[in-house]
Amino acid sequence: MSILRKSLAGISTAIALTAINPAQAENGISTRTPDALEQMVRQDCGSCHGLTFKGGLGSPLLPENLAAYSVEDLAQIILEGLPGTAMPPWRAIVTRDEATWMARYLKTGEPE
Ligand code: HEC
Repeated sequence: MSILRKSLAGISTAIALTAINPAQAENGISTRTPDALEQMVRQDCGSCHGLTFKGGLGSPLLPENLAAYSVEDLAQIILEGLPGTAMPPWRAIVTRDEATWMARYLKTGEPE
């Protein structure tokens, strides 16, 4: 791999993950407040799923679209991603509790 290619990959990762600190997920302790999580869902997930979750590159994530999934199912999708699609796994950067919070947020359309 050329040095240019490597550094470009590094730059795009850095851009994608600006609001996220991987160290927080590694120790399993969430230091994010609900406000920070809400902002992350709106910005990081919204960049693919639409800022109002009505869909974009990713499918719509409004409560009516997610009715068939349990909170646990959704948390699992968030942590593992959907292999073979553009939906990335988030387990390296969010904890299970944070994924569960996000799942509940999306299912109810508002923070708990
Ligand atoms: C890089 C783009 C991208 C980002 C960022 C992204 N997603 Fe996705 N997501 C997708 C795509 C594309 C799909 C649809 C995959 C398919 O089934 O073809 C998807 C599917 C999903 C699904 C399944 C929806 C359904 O109806 O089956 C959920 C839930 C989901 N994403 C949640 C999230 C959450 C929460 C975040 C933020 C933590 C997020 N996504 C960030 C691209 C993205």
